[in-house]
Amino acid sequence: MTKSALITGAAKGLGAEIARSAAADGYRVALLDLDPLVLETASSIPGATGFVGTTTDAEFVDGVLDNFGTPDAVVNNAGIVRFGPLLDQALDQWRSVVDVNLTGTFIVARAVAKRLVAAGRRGAIVNITSMNGVMPGPNAGAYGSTKSGVSLLTKQMAVEWGPLGIRVNAIAPGLIDAGMSEPIYADPQIRALREARVPAGRLGRADDIARAVLWLLSDASEYITGEEILVDGGVTVSVIAGLPRPQSVDAVGVNPAAARPSNKEQ
Ligand SMILES: NC(=O)c1ccc[n+]([C@@H]2O[C@H](COP(=O)([O-])OP(=O)(O)OC[C@H]3O[C@@H](n4cnc5c(N)ncnc54)[C@H](O)[C@@H]3O)[C@@H](O)[C@H]2O)c1
Repeated sequence: MTKSALITGAAKGLGAEIARSAAADGYRVALLDLDPLVLETASSIPGATGFVGTTTDAEFVDGVLDNFGTPDAVVNNAGIVRFGPLLDQALDQWRSVVDVNLTGTFIVARAVAKRLVAAGRRGAIVNITSMNGVMPGPNAGAYGSTKSGVSLLTKQMAVEWGPLGIRVNAIAPGLIDAGMSEPIYADPQIRALREARVPAGRLGRADDIARAVLWLLSDASEYITGEEILVDGGVTVSVIAGLPRPQSVDAVGVNPAAARPSNKEQ
């Protein structure tokens, strides 16, 4: 039987790539986005349906599910960022980021989970978090806190819904040259500086994220739930490795003449 998937924030960027990959993988897909461009994006994907509206409106989300049917898979990808120092962050900006990133994810996931449970069906959910939810980024306002919140929510849902047959995992993208980060990488100097910090040697692409998402939705990962996978080319694990050390210390073990026994760590 054909599986179906709902992808939020799918008008463009990572969501559109995830929707295209899911369709190529055989899913019947629904694309949901605030931006009417989603209708155009959906029309370019075989068998896809586009829905215009916000994930933060529970009634609208229910209407989408009434229309499309209950999907086997959900990708909570809709997200926004409002950059700026915390000291100057307007409260309405803070609240909008919390509302879309955290509350919107909850609304969509719960609406689908309720219907899956009522129908006695299994399902898989992937929430898109961020490297910024693992460690703070520059002037990222509420963004990192909401992604961190989604990360914990992912585990909470996995624990509560695992026995009901629903797996819930998260993908945390790193430095991705697509979507909301396009303006960042349009600056060649910033681009080069950031690229140099990636152990894998390049910025991430939308298809890097889509492949990881599709794998977590598939039965190939059927024993994995409550996990968050960083898809960041090694950026987050390279912080200490990027720190300089005095040459005298670094020489230990390299030049036996200069070597002295040491148990010291970095
Ligand atoms: N691009 C990156 O560098 C990067 C890195 C880490 C995490 N992410 C995350 O990946 C996800 C996708 O981001 P992107 O880079 O493709 O950004 P994007 O801005 O290109 O796409 C996000 C989409 O979500 C839609 N959207 C926003 N609020 C919505 C709402 N309330 N309801 C429905 N749709 C809504 C927007 O209209 C847009 O089409 C986000 O959750 C983002 O936080 C992106």
